[in-house]
Amino acid sequence: MSFTFKNFPADRDDLRSDVLAGLAACPKSIPPKYFYDEAGCRLFESICAQPEYVLTRTEGALLRARLGDIAAAIGAVDCIVEPGAGECAKVRLLLQALHPSHLVVLDIAGGPLAAAAESLSRDHPGLAVTALGMDFIRDLDAAAPHLPEGRRLIYYPGSSIGNFAPDAAATLLTRFRRLAGTAGQLLIGFDLKKDPLQLHAAYNDAAGVTAAFNLNLLERLNRELDADFDTSRFRHYAFYNPTAGRIEMHLASLAAQDVSVAGQRFHFALGETLHTENSYKFRRDEFSAIATNAGWPLKAEWELDGFAVQLYGNVD
Ligand code: TRP
Repeated sequence: MSFTFKNFPADRDDLRSDVLAGLAACPKSIPPKYFYDEAGCRLFESICAQPEYVLTRTEGALLRARLGDIAAAIGAVDCIVEPGAGECAKVRLLLQALHPSHLVVLDIAGGPLAAAAESLSRDHPGLAVTALGMDFIRDLDAAAPHLPEGRRLIYYPGSSIGNFAPDAAATLLTRFRRLAGTAGQLLIGFDLKKDPLQLHAAYNDAAGVTAAFNLNLLERLNRELDADFDTSRFRHYAFYNPTAGRIEMHLASLAAQDVSVAGQRFHFALGETLHTENSYKFRRDEFSAIATNAGWPLKAEWELDGFAVQLYGNVD
């Protein structure tokens, strides 16, 4: 068993400057990568277990049901790379089917990632596991020196790609292509367009976990940027925007109020929102057009209950 962890320390200045710029903009927004402090990571795992949030379970069921086909389509790989691996739970299924010699997991939340990756490496003697605590949206190229030579598969499940605006998604897919190399492949999961009420329910769970996850962003700013958000005066507000084809998640101000963040004051009008995340939904052909443009030829695809998994790479 071998386990290596390298942390690329997150710059406190990034959080500060991104948040101050986002609050000064109109409409106000904050990049969703800042959800994932330790409390945010725990709340995210809990979202995935909510009865209304079927996405994670459906993707798992699809992978289990079609694992033989998927593994056959992929063929031999030496290294699996998973950006945003979090708990490292999803990749376990692929490891069983593909038996790579190396696994590289990346996540902006370095602490929780290291713990999850080390425990995975204990369960897989003989697998070399490398965990990189990094903001891969900003810094993916820094991962390249930590990847072994050989056939690489980038695994990007969970419809995380849907959390990027279309041009940012295209940029990320282009960077994945560069990291994977011309012989590399990409296995990616994304949520499909479907009944808006079903989507609405998924981001408005009855237990309020998604609301707590969204509001935790303000608590994080209170903790780390000396902000004074009163979380009882903001409401989690998530809805499906059919024109844009995305769930939008906002924090709506329940009063006209001023908030101080890192020594600067910002005004919220009554009902004004802070936009915290998008979750784009696709048709399969819509998504493959984006990926093809980013240099990834489609090899195979699978679908179950409104969720799709596609495999990209050179067709040989
Ligand atoms: N990428 C998944 C999605 O968009 C998971 C996710 C990311 C999520 N952020 C979230 C789910 C916030 C609920 C709320 O659905």
